[in-house]
Amino acid sequence: MKTILYMGISANGYIAKTDGNSEWTSEEDLKGFYEQSKKAGNIIMGKNTYLAALQYGYFPFPDSLNVVVSHKQIENKWGDNVIIMDKPPKEILAMLEQKGFTAAFLAGGGQLNASFVKEGLIDEIYLDIEPLILGQGIKIFADADFEFWMELIDFKKLNINTIQLHYKVIKNQ
Ligand SMILES: NC(=O)c1ccc[n+]([C@@H]2O[C@H](COP(=O)([O-])OP(=O)(O)OC[C@H]3O[C@@H](n4cnc5c(N)ncnc54)[C@H](OP(=O)(O)O)[C@@H]3O)[C@@H](O)[C@H]2O)c1
Repeated sequence: MKTILYMGISANGYIAKTDGNSEWTSEEDLKGFYEQSKKAGNIIMGKNTYLAALQYGYFPFPDSLNVVVSHKQIENKWGDNVIIMDKPPKEILAMLEQKGFTAAFLAGGGQLNASFVKEGLIDEIYLDIEPLILGQGIKIFADADFEFWMELIDFKKLNINTIQLHYKVIKNQ
């Protein structure tokens, strides 16, 4: 099972403004996000990301199994396309593996990303870097005690101002 993280970020590493708004990422970032999540067939998100997606009318993502992670009880009004889980990252991946998925698509936000990375459970990272600097906001990884190196798999220009970096996480560092 391979876990792929895909994030649209400001040039200084934020995924949203302090109020949770991430509507500033490019069309190309959204397109890449959808394509990769569709390819994996699933999309794992933290509760705040689920709430933001709901607010902006994206939730549930139609072509994927939507997995929402929260310690709270959230009513599932959507049916089989949505799973709400209060489980650690390893168990979420095991659940997806059991359902026959070979890749897991991690869709943020910063808190959930940090809980996966702390356990060494991210294999590949796509960063769509937007030409924006934010003075404050929500970081791609919430603060925690971790550090990891990556290898560059690929890079490309998505539009005149946006660059995509595709990394492989080096394991056993
Ligand atoms: N630019 C982008 O590409 C992009 C992508 C995704 C999201 N975003 C933005 O990121 C923002 C949200 O990020 P965030 O860091 O605030 O929040 P988040 O990671 O989306 O959600 C955090 C919440 O998820 C639950 N959670 C996280 N890890 C958990 C774990 N290991 N076990 C159980 N529950 C867990 C907890 O919910 P409970 O408190 O209910 O337990 C936690 O409070 C949104 O504003 C969204 O728009 C941007």
